[in-house]
Amino acid sequence: MCGIIGYIGVKSAGPILLDGLRKLEYRGYDSVGMATFEGSGITLKKDAGRIDDVAKRERLGDMQGNAGIGHTRWATHGGVTKENAHPHASCDGQIVVVHNGIIENYSELRAALAERGHFFRSQTDTEVVPHLLEEELRRGNGIEQAVRNVVKQLHGSFALLVLCSREPDKIVAARRESPLIIGLSDHGTFAASDATPFLGQTKHVAYLNDNEMAVLTRGGAAYFDFNGNPVRKEVAEITWKAEQATKGGHDYFMIKEILEEPSAMRNALLQDRKAFTEFAHEIASAKKAMVIACGTARHSAIIGKHLLDRVAGKQVEVMIASEFAYFADNLTPDTLVVCVSQSGETADVLDGVRKAKAKGCRVLSIVNVVGSTLSRLSDRAVYLNCGPEVCVAATKSFINQVTVFYLLAYAMRGAFDEGVTELTKVSELLLKAFELNDARAKAIAERFVKNGNAYYIGRGVNFAMALEGALKMKEISYVHAEGMPAGELKHGTLALIENGTPVFLLNPTDYTYYDTLSNGLETKARGAVLIGVGNKNNTAYDEFIELPEVPEIFYPLLEAVPLQLVAYYAAVARGRDPDRPRNLAKSVTVK
Ligand code: G6P
Repeated sequence: MCGIIGYIGVKSAGPILLDGLRKLEYRGYDSVGMATFEGSGITLKKDAGRIDDVAKRERLGDMQGNAGIGHTRWATHGGVTKENAHPHASCDGQIVVVHNGIIENYSELRAALAERGHFFRSQTDTEVVPHLLEEELRRGNGIEQAVRNVVKQLHGSFALLVLCSREPDKIVAARRESPLIIGLSDHGTFAASDATPFLGQTKHVAYLNDNEMAVLTRGGAAYFDFNGNPVRKEVAEITWKAEQATKGGHDYFMIKEILEEPSAMRNALLQDRKAFTEFAHEIASAKKAMVIACGTARHSAIIGKHLLDRVAGKQVEVMIASEFAYFADNLTPDTLVVCVSQSGETADVLDGVRKAKAKGCRVLSIVNVVGSTLSRLSDRAVYLNCGPEVCVAATKSFINQVTVFYLLAYAMRGAFDEGVTELTKVSELLLKAFELNDARAKAIAERFVKNGNAYYIGRGVNFAMALEGALKMKEISYVHAEGMPAGELKHGTLALIENGTPVFLLNPTDYTYYDTLSNGLETKARGAVLIGVGNKNNTAYDEFIELPEVPEIFYPLLEAVPLQLVAYYAAVARGRDPDRPRNLAKSVTVK
């Protein structure tokens, strides 16, 4: 995780970098820092803490100079301290570096550098890089050659930006496995972990691939492989708008993004019929299809597994991406690997893709970010079209992932157009699900503000929604929440139900209704407060979250909205920031 940004141009770098770091904050927010070249040398300012606090304290926005680099941190190596915040500098302060990724062999490198007299200020893996570069410069190399020589010594993953006071007219960027995008504007050149920090300045981008470097100057960028051979790059155009990545008057991105769900869902349906149907048929005809994903994306895949089975009769396997690697040894080319990811940069998913490709498997992906590493590594991709999602907890991207699975199920049956029509109707009901439950969700969240536990139970496709409801709750409110198959409760977890324990019963009148109701009653008999989620109330329910009526397979989409709202209000009621939950980051680019 961690977000990095660099700018070199004719404008003042300080405000541009600070604004960019605010947009990258979802990638990590425990520390922040910037370094700029101010005429005679490099000025470096950094500290632990949220960006607005550090920016105010250190006056980051006032930093002078037209070239600089910045970093927002999600700690991996070394605690959350000022010293461990980036940028990191060489002993002489002439070279500064920001890094996203993990340098796996840093302890050997660090011991050898210390032996040779280098002084380390932090506990990070990153700090070896400026010291190694310093040695290269002492040997008489320029900064570009120095970076080339150093990256060859690094094991692990990195997106690096390097500024050197001896050559202040350039920023050197290098990438292996961690994302890095170059932005080309009429006033200067950017490099960043994703395009959001410079969307307001330019839509023209170039993507660095693994083991490539870019040398950024005021007038543009030159690209090379790690041996110094020039690489030709196409300039692509980003379609996202800068205002999509702002809160637009709402208190938090999360509520704004929940409210965007109806329109986001309609955008998910804007698929090219032919290409989408081919994608669906590839899954349908695969001898074996394995879907890999993490977090919320995996929950969408579990819903997808149910839908493909029920609607199209196709069985697929869903695996947690970080566990998939342990099954990779025996993969054969007749297994199709389907990845689901909002960011397209999740390290565990990308690791799975690389392992699958090494075994000759074809890889398809369902992804939001166009131009992301996943979309470029895949043989085919379909896009979620939900625009930028900023809140760490996924909301609209989940709706769109699930929508894509519905449409795939229809397309497998040769009914793409029918799918679009039916799903468009459901998209209109998402707003109704919001309106029916906004106040109710708030009241329920506030009723349980003192409870430290919550259980979400459901059967069949609703079990996947139980997982997602519980994940939303725990990640932003820090309430321990568990999502369970309702039928499994009696095999252990029922022991935890006591007087007043909230149990969310995901129970629309679908094929799971009566069995789920019985399981809910079993919890109530043990003191649970039963919160029914469905289209039909029941006298056993202590609270009722009402869903509009839809054909039974569509209920998961409607369940998502109030469950997201309950989690949102639970976080707000506890004084948590739902957009930036502690210890988490949105784009998980480390394994
Ligand atoms: C992180 C985010 C989650 C997300 C997961 C997978 O944990 O906080 O919201 O679901 O990563 O991310 P992806 O970008 O691959 O969908």
